[in-house]
Amino acid sequence: MATKLGPLVGAIDQGTSSTRFLVFNAETAELLSHHQVEIKQEFPREGWVEQDPKEILNSVYECVEKTCEKMKQLNINISNIRAIGVTNQRETTVVWDKTTGEPLYNAIVWLDLRTQSTVEHLLKKVPGRNKTFSKFKTGLPLSTYFSAVKLRWLLDNVEEIRKAVEDHRAMFGTIDSWLIWSLTGGKNGGIHCTDVTNASRTMLFNIHSLEWDPELCKFFDIPMEILPTVRSSSEIYGVMKICPSWESGALTGVPISGCLGDQSAALVGQMCFQDGQAKNTYGTGCFLLCNTGQKSVFSEHGLITTIAYKMGKDKPTFYALEGSVAIAGAVVRWLRDNLGIAKTSQEVEKLAADVGTSYGCYFVPAFSGLYAPYWEPSARGIICGLTQFTNKNHIAFAALEAVCFQTREILDAMNKDCGIPLNQLQVDGGMTNNKILMQLQSDILCIPVVKPSMPETTALGAAMAAGAAEGVGVWSLNPGDLTAVTCERFEPQINPEESEYRYARWKKAVMKSMGWET
Ligand code: G3P
Repeated sequence: MATKLGPLVGAIDQGTSSTRFLVFNAETAELLSHHQVEIKQEFPREGWVEQDPKEILNSVYECVEKTCEKMKQLNINISNIRAIGVTNQRETTVVWDKTTGEPLYNAIVWLDLRTQSTVEHLLKKVPGRNKTFSKFKTGLPLSTYFSAVKLRWLLDNVEEIRKAVEDHRAMFGTIDSWLIWSLTGGKNGGIHCTDVTNASRTMLFNIHSLEWDPELCKFFDIPMEILPTVRSSSEIYGVMKICPSWESGALTGVPISGCLGDQSAALVGQMCFQDGQAKNTYGTGCFLLCNTGQKSVFSEHGLITTIAYKMGKDKPTFYALEGSVAIAGAVVRWLRDNLGIAKTSQEVEKLAADVGTSYGCYFVPAFSGLYAPYWEPSARGIICGLTQFTNKNHIAFAALEAVCFQTREILDAMNKDCGIPLNQLQVDGGMTNNKILMQLQSDILCIPVVKPSMPETTALGAAMAAGAAEGVGVWSLNPGDLTAVTCERFEPQINPEESEYRYARWKKAVMKSMGWET
């Protein structure tokens, strides 16, 4: 006998490092079952980061299959899943052939640096080489980070893509678009769409009119016909179709009705619905978003303006100020995979914990240049302050400290832009399981760091958007009634003078990392 439960909502969480499928109880927001699969990253040349779009899609099928199997074992009825939300790594760029359903090149991942010369070339067209020339339209600076330059590179360098555009066979999308198109039928009538939060990361989208911007498309020389239709973050886009590689096809016919870039989804999942509420998510990178309500606020201190969410076609658009850090969890992975100083990420934590200090060593992991607040693609990683005494434990500690210093830099910028300093930081993401890191974060920020009791905030945000969509309406929790429940709290344990001293040394190290690759 299947356990009697009310409506359920599924969330596909497609991140840079892994894909997950999670199922929530729509009445209690309780996580019932999930499955996770790691995703390969390819580094074909220095600075290049690619992923296989087919592997990403297959990982979604695998996660759905495995989660449904686990649900069966738990006696939970799969047919109670009423809606599915999608949340994804943002900016990562895919171009595919709509007649064959095949990608025409690997996905160029947001971290990829190959477009440094494309950015340089484009800057020549801008009066005064002003990187922020489209700030008031898109909220973004011209950078290797956003999709438009990646798409420009693909059009310039991949003959098959150029040909497919000429033949009107090409479709462009961020990962959400690629997944939704494929899951809703692909070459047999798949829905080519994205949501406003993902569109706001392309640098082709006007965040006020909520339309693709013809002037920017002209500037980047992007054919507008290959762009997806832009929808709200919460509405029915289409229904799941059966796919040959999908053994049970368990969710066939279930509507996909939520879509948010992962950082927006985490903001929703952390219940940051009020003006001034903020969260910091530690994933591959680290992203601090502060809800600025229905007005777009433009930073004077290197932050970007992005769309937070729009929960329905006729619902208002909410904006956020964002501090983006490219390398957070990725530095731990680098210590493990490239230097081999530990076999697991947990071992890196242990190495750091065993010494509890970097012994004056500072590590700036500018592997992809530096994002906020510097936006400096020429920066490269450095480890400095080494002595004969320095060992791998100190380097592990310095790596964790780097994540905290980078967060301090964006929090300082956020406080200056918002005028009212945050008095505590709400955190989530895989790295928040690392207690050393969370304590260090509180020490370096000199404010408490708080973790919610529901750690899967990104997936929860996508599930909420899907469950609340018009025509689905199963999410009975009213966002206005929700607040994140704190499960762990870290208070600063060092004195502010020591914290300031270490932060000043970090800033010195950052200056040394700049202009390395000119
Ligand atoms: O902008 C990139 C971001 O969306 C990636 O997030 O969680 O994969 O580090 P994550």
